[in-house]
Amino acid sequence: MAKAAVLGYGTVGSGVVEVLDTNSAEVEKSAGEKIEVKYILDLRDFPGDKHEKQIVHDIEVILNDPEIDVICETMGGLEPAFTFEKRALEKGISVCTSNKELVAVHGPELVKIAKEHNCSYLFEASVGGGIPVLRTLNTSLKHEKIDSITGILNGTTNYILTKMDREKIGFATVLKEAQDKGYAERKPEADIEGYDACRKTAILASLMSGQYVKYEDIETEGITKITQEDFAYARSLGMSIKLLGMIKKNNSGFFTMVSPFLIPSENPLAFVNDVFNAIVVHGNMLGSTMYYGKGAGKEATASAVVADLIDLVIHKGSHMDVNLTDAPAQLSDNGSYVHRFFVRVDENSEEQARELFGSEIEVVESKEVFGEFAFVTDLISEKDFKAKYSQLEKPKGFLREL
Ligand code: HSE
Repeated sequence: MAKAAVLGYGTVGSGVVEVLDTNSAEVEKSAGEKIEVKYILDLRDFPGDKHEKQIVHDIEVILNDPEIDVICETMGGLEPAFTFEKRALEKGISVCTSNKELVAVHGPELVKIAKEHNCSYLFEASVGGGIPVLRTLNTSLKHEKIDSITGILNGTTNYILTKMDREKIGFATVLKEAQDKGYAERKPEADIEGYDACRKTAILASLMSGQYVKYEDIETEGITKITQEDFAYARSLGMSIKLLGMIKKNNSGFFTMVSPFLIPSENPLAFVNDVFNAIVVHGNMLGSTMYYGKGAGKEATASAVVADLIDLVIHKGSHMDVNLTDAPAQLSDNGSYVHRFFVRVDENSEEQARELFGSEIEVVESKEVFGEFAFVTDLISEKDFKAKYSQLEKPKGFLREL
């Protein structure tokens, strides 16, 4: 019997315990032995809870118990989660986590410590909730040269964008509704400003490169500037608007970005709606594959944590390689990256826009928007586009096209 401790009895932590209870036979079959949750660390007491007796308030109880084989950290945040994980790994106790913030900042260091102490550090649930994409990258796709990863990595923003599009309501109204229903946080910045997607992109980019991509180095833009007018034009173009995390390998390193993109309707990412996430991985031999599922939520995220827990039990006493080192990855200059851009300007700026962007532009019309001139540019680099856009007298916004 393997003994586990769960750090944090919140949404994900209680979900982990629930998965282990509900699927105990399947978990035992998969791990080759029973997994018992010996301790649950939380500041709170849970009187009347089925697992009340396992609750402890002191991490030392867990770290000093030689019976503990594995720890699931589902507390979130940097501290004290980092210190707890580090101390566990230094004692040779394997750790799995759903904590994307911590993995994005300290992942390489924690993997190194795990390797030095003959144990493992896994973090499947940190990207894409329940979607088994990290494991797939590290197993089924390990022999591929991965040249791009593009994903809808944040459920909250995908829910907001889907609702704005379907119900034709503005960003602020949808956000408020989402908050009232508990889908969006009261402090929504991490989601709507793209910070959450940025951390997940950094983790994917690190695994893709086998090196360390700092989230601070990823150009990140959220969805707060997206308007009903943008959706009206997108409908005219037969496109969707989605917040994407993007990593592309090129000759000078890796291009990384988090930004809203216009997505043509024939692209499968255009059909990923509500809180769902999807990640498209392109390998040199394989071509494109897409991984789709619930990117957030108690049971889905907990299921991914339990998958790691099982792997850790199977590989007790050895180190599982996750293709993540602390060598800094080489990121390329985003300025040279080429897209088509959708641009909106005041109708009085049409002439200037035509002069700046040339005759190659494709004019976009919408019966729902007035007083504007909108167009899609020819392929143009980020650097050249921004130089031209900054000269526009009355710009109203732009979006990149996938
Ligand atoms: N806030 C995140 C999301 C939760 O909306 O996707 C899952 O990481």
